Amino acid sequence: MDFPELKKKTSEHLLGGGTLKQQERKKKGKLTAFERVELIFDSGTFTEIDPFVTHECHNFEMQDRKFLGDGVVTGYGMIDNRLAYVFSHDFTVLGGSLGMAFALKVCKVMDLALKQGVPIVGINDSGGARIQEGVDSLAGYAEIFHRNVKASGVIPQISLIMGPCAGGAVYSPALTDFVIMSRSAYMFVTGPEVVKEVTEEKVTFEDLGGAEIHNKKSGVAHFIANDEQECFTILRNLFSFIPSNNLENPPRAATKDDPKRKNESLNSFLPSNPNRPYNMETIIKQVVDDANFLEVQKYWANNIIVGFARLDGNSVGIVANNPEHLAGVLDIDACDKACRFVRFCDCFNIPLITLVDVPGFLPGTNQEWGGIIRHGAKLLYAFSEATVPKLTIITRKAYGGAYDVMNSKHLGADYNFAWPKAEIAVMGPEGASNIIFKQLIRQSDDPQKKRAELAKEYRLKFANPYIAASKGYIDNVIEPEETRTRLISALRAIIRKREDRPRRKHGNIPV
Ligand code: HXC
Repeated sequence: MDFPELKKKTSEHLLGGGTLKQQERKKKGKLTAFERVELIFDSGTFTEIDPFVTHECHNFEMQDRKFLGDGVVTGYGMIDNRLAYVFSHDFTVLGGSLGMAFALKVCKVMDLALKQGVPIVGINDSGGARIQEGVDSLAGYAEIFHRNVKASGVIPQISLIMGPCAGGAVYSPALTDFVIMSRSAYMFVTGPEVVKEVTEEKVTFEDLGGAEIHNKKSGVAHFIANDEQECFTILRNLFSFIPSNNLENPPRAATKDDPKRKNESLNSFLPSNPNRPYNMETIIKQVVDDANFLEVQKYWANNIIVGFARLDGNSVGIVANNPEHLAGVLDIDACDKACRFVRFCDCFNIPLITLVDVPGFLPGTNQEWGGIIRHGAKLLYAFSEATVPKLTIITRKAYGGAYDVMNSKHLGADYNFAWPKAEIAVMGPEGASNIIFKQLIRQSDDPQKKRAELAKEYRLKFANPYIAASKGYIDNVIEPEETRTRLISALRAIIRKREDRPRRKHGNIPV
């Protein structure tokens, strides 16, 4: 049987906004919406739905500008043999702008993904609300946002930003769990022209909302990719660590890395001067399976490191202070970064491993006026509400409120270990001596020498892990070389953890 109309319509649909528009994209080195969906999925597994949808707008002669599919390709396919739904904006059709028919197509795949309990991936490349459709396009966006919120914490939602993402279009990606940005993409609420009109500030697209800006300055994006292909590679890597929904466990990965492998070099890894920095990532890579660590938000708030790894084949989320940046203090951005990551892991049954070396919170008016109190409270809240297995290693400093915040026993951590040189105290020896020995120092003939002596005394008495261990706040003091084996043993001993919280509508995290 021959179905000429179906064939004709199908080939018309595959042309998107037309041959000319597709050629223009090729010249710019960009893939089409169709090529992108083929590439994110395992070869030949993409199945499209709704290819013949068109808009019903009659404003500004729009009845003469109808395109089959209406500027968005939707459907499902397999990523490493696991089902996922997708929508992919087609910039060749009216600049990928979103009207009601377009929005309903996106909503349909979001609903199907939620019903089936599988991730939804959005490929964004759009001029924003379709101006000719007026309030219908605003309504369409809000329908999508509403679904983003309903799906949050139930299925993973991942956004790839491959071109412009302007105006209200930015809020759907912002609601998703991860934003992967290609270098040729940009995101902003108001573009350079409006910025110039309103504030007289002149700024380029890249400087306002390019991939570097959102990966380094704003924290809106989680990953940066040099090109579109790299976006897909990051997506697949990320997928390998996360489950398809909140009721499943993350996939296990077979490893030849011995669970009993010791990390001898860690025994002499810390600098002899406790105020010198060291590379925390080296510790992470030494400890996890096959040195495989996928860092998230690598270029933003570098005083904290977050990312995915595996221990004994199990996916884990790592949160670690970074002594190489601002001595690893907690500041506003670091708290926001870690908070969101901890909450993602908790939603999706990914155990948390926290590596602590934190001298405290960053002091200063900048931080206090910016609300470090409420931002710090967010991180505290996130660790505290998390019911996944929670393991902590204090490598060196754990001072003051930051000791509490960084997954302490008191916030419900299951296993807390400290290295022998850990310093767990209300504050550092120098600061503490200045306060409690103020009179003694003032009265001394040589205040500087006296301060140093008293600080040394304080360090010996308080800045060690044994007081906390004597109270059971630390479950054990371990040799650094045992870090991997101890973590794996503890994880095996708590991996089946189930913990309930009182029934309530939801908590009120201090956002
Ligand atoms: C309708 C649009 C459009 C839009 C682009 N096009 N944006 N059509 N609505 N929002 C059309 C253009 O008319 C053009 O059609 C084609 O798409 C390609 O656009 P160009 O401008 O030629 O492409 P380029 O030079 O690459 O520039 C891309 C761009 C620019 C930077 C994205 O098009 C632009 O600034 N668009 C508007 C962006 C914006 O301000 N969006 C916010 C909308 S308000 P032809 O037929 O000529 O090929 C919004 C609020 C929503 O989103 C709030 C929800 C809560």
